[in-house]
Amino acid sequence: MSSAPLGLAVIGTGAMGTRHAENILRAVPDARLAAVYDVNAESAARVASSLGCAHSPRLDELLSRDDVQAVVIASPPSFHATHAIAAARAGKHIFLEKPMALTLPDANAIIVAAETAAVRLQIGFMRRYDPAYADAQARIRNGDIGEPRLFKGIDRDRDAPTGPPGSISRAAILTDSAIHDFDLARWLMADEVIAVRATIAVVGDERTIPGPNVALVDLRFARGSLGNVEVIQGAKYGYDIRAEIVGTEGTLLVGGHQKTALQLLTVNGAHHDLTGHWLDRFGDAYLREMRDFLVTMRDGRPPYVTGDDGRRALAIALAADTAGERGIEVAVS
Ligand code: NAI
Repeated sequence: MSSAPLGLAVIGTGAMGTRHAENILRAVPDARLAAVYDVNAESAARVASSLGCAHSPRLDELLSRDDVQAVVIASPPSFHATHAIAAARAGKHIFLEKPMALTLPDANAIIVAAETAAVRLQIGFMRRYDPAYADAQARIRNGDIGEPRLFKGIDRDRDAPTGPPGSISRAAILTDSAIHDFDLARWLMADEVIAVRATIAVVGDERTIPGPNVALVDLRFARGSLGNVEVIQGAKYGYDIRAEIVGTEGTLLVGGHQKTALQLLTVNGAHHDLTGHWLDRFGDAYLREMRDFLVTMRDGRPPYVTGDDGRRALAIALAADTAGERGIEVAVS
């Protein structure tokens, strides 16, 4: 491949898109941030001016730029299918934030569009790039805990979503948050989830909470192992993401609470700070995933997190939504 830097563009300049743009600009070799686009032109102009790139007035203008070879899509999930399919048709490689889509037909259409256009498609499951999760996966593959038998995912957001009651769907807690754990479950257990049960609820004062804020999802894997994913939005004390994988010969615990290495010890006890935000906890992982997207593209290697991975995690989330609605075990399609 040519040694000219790859030109990237970011669609959606909110919290996630801005971090991806910063990572492309500052820390990814062989890449150049060419342009950003957001339906909120002020947001795009602000990010473009602070990062020194162009801002496109329209999506079609961005996708027709010759200096853009790949796009990072960080718009809200309801736009992912439209944006990804348009990018594929314009011949741009795609890094697509999770959830890749909100329905399986849309996920399939994205995969087909990327295959038809022969462009790359990588999904933003960055936890796979976190050093602790990556090490856990390598140890499981190495047989360090024997046969994995149980997966436990804990996913607690410090902040509760805001909005009027009823404004957030039951599925959102699964497609937005638990979807990371569904991907981890498949990846760490090296197995497929075949069925789910779920309890999804508004826990607290229903008059002030916009939608379900707690979800408990039980997983059944093809080889007979079991799993459970817990999501709480609005845990208040911090951003608390952990996993446990229990095997026949040992157990792996991933994640902790402490943000910095400082601890204060007094007669009143031990005190340390807590991780508060996903951009802190997974700062490294976001950088590594973007580097990997670019390096594998440059080297012509397959993406590490594929469209199929995105679709399978979405299928688990949607099955859990149905399971939560009906109170029965639901097969994952
Ligand atoms: P955000 O609300 O901060 O930003 C979304 C941006 O998209 C806004 O600037 C908005 O103006 C823009 N936008 C809305 N409609 C648009 C359209 N039709 N075309 C172009 N831009 C449009 O949301 P956030 O948190 O940045 O999330 C964006 C995506 O990133 C979502 O898919 C979300 O699930 C994902 N995400 C992933 C995380 C991860 O850990 N991998 C963490 C947080 C978000």
